[in-house]
Amino acid sequence: MTKSTGQVLLFMLVVFGTFLWIGKSVTDLTGGEKKAVVAGKVEVTPEGGETIYWGKGRCFTCHSVGDRGSAVRGPNHGQFGAKFPQPMGPRAIERAKERSQKTGKTFTLEDYLVESLADPGAYVVEGYKNEMAVVFAPPISLSLDEIKAVVAYLQAQGGEFDAKSINEPSDISKAFYAKIVVASQAGGGDPENGKVVYDDNCADCHSLDGKPGEVGPDLSAIGKTGLKSITESILRPAAKITPGFETYVAINKRGRKTVGLKTREEGDEVDITTKDGDVVTLKKGDIKELNQDKLTSVMPEDLPSEISVKDYQDVLSYLLLQKGTKNDEKKE
Ligand code: HEC
Ligand code: HEC
Repeated sequence: MTKSTGQVLLFMLVVFGTFLWIGKSVTDLTGGEKKAVVAGKVEVTPEGGETIYWGKGRCFTCHSVGDRGSAVRGPNHGQFGAKFPQPMGPRAIERAKERSQKTGKTFTLEDYLVESLADPGAYVVEGYKNEMAVVFAPPISLSLDEIKAVVAYLQAQGGEFDAKSINEPSDISKAFYAKIVVASQAGGGDPENGKVVYDDNCADCHSLDGKPGEVGPDLSAIGKTGLKSITESILRPAAKITPGFETYVAINKRGRKTVGLKTREEGDEVDITTKDGDVVTLKKGDIKELNQDKLTSVMPEDLPSEISVKDYQDVLSYLLLQKGTKNDEKKE
């Protein structure tokens, strides 16, 4: 108990520390907190994108455009010296050719720009580190429209703004748009990897997506309960036990202990389902004690120490997207 509590605390520190660190590192880069929040919905135009680029999007903390700005961590988006003979518009056409060759898919210049925001690690500009911010995740948290506006702004650097190419995207950009929408709804984690984490660590017990689990509650609608509630359920399962999934401890007359959920009580029989999914049928006459243990959940406490912080954030984002209807209400 003490050991796992320590592990959980450590894990929470790492999780919150990561958030703080990202927040702080970006604030440091901006040289203090500049409030440049855009009110209302942004227009998908170069002007709309310009406000995001030099404000909420914090692109200016790493990028400059020609002579404007002084940041050098990322490539200049304008024409600048011998290193950047071409501004971002025409440059993106060249990069798109490279991406097409590499992937075998046909990248347009918009596709390149959208990819550089949706999946920055896919193409790392020579001479730079793979340290471009994930701009649709906290603390920047751009919406899809804000990202489209920024694409319009970059398109217009030495090129023509083309609304149609942004609003009627190719299949490549469409897939990136979908990824951005899902990830920004889910607070920044990667739900695709979250599903893998879930299948490996949680699916034996829980039901979801029509796949029945053996011990835990159905999670098909868990997203509706919100981030805080889900976080608490994982970090401190025993703090608030889901009704119908209380832990019971049965001791028979020979002193043998069975711990699990009370999944059936009929006539003179009681079924206890253990954490491994085994159903143990006990005769009432053979039971010496049957008590609820309010301090312990059947859900393991040490899950956070079994998975990495990234996996944890990803599984959270996967669960946040589960907003369907439950198929089996309670196991009782
Ligand atoms: C924390 C620093 C950082 C922030 C913030 C950041 N970027 Fe970047 N960006 C980089 C780095 C470093 C690279 C080069 C490595 C790479 O290609 O991933 C890059 C690359 C790019 C490229 C590819 C440039 C080229 O020459 O092909 C584009 C486009 C881009 N960023 C757009 C943006 C936009 C738009 C924003 C704001 C919404 C932004 N970046 C915010 C660091 C950042
Ligand atoms: C050994 C079985 C078991 C495993 C493995 C398990 N759980 Fe659970 N989980 C339970 C049980 C039993 C409950 C209900 C008791 C409680 O609330 O603590 C529960 C409750 C929950 C709840 C709250 C459900 C509600 O309706 O409010 C969430 C969320 C949850 N688990 C997520 C997870 C995640 C994510 C994983 C994997 C990382 C996981 N569980 C692994 C058994 C398990």
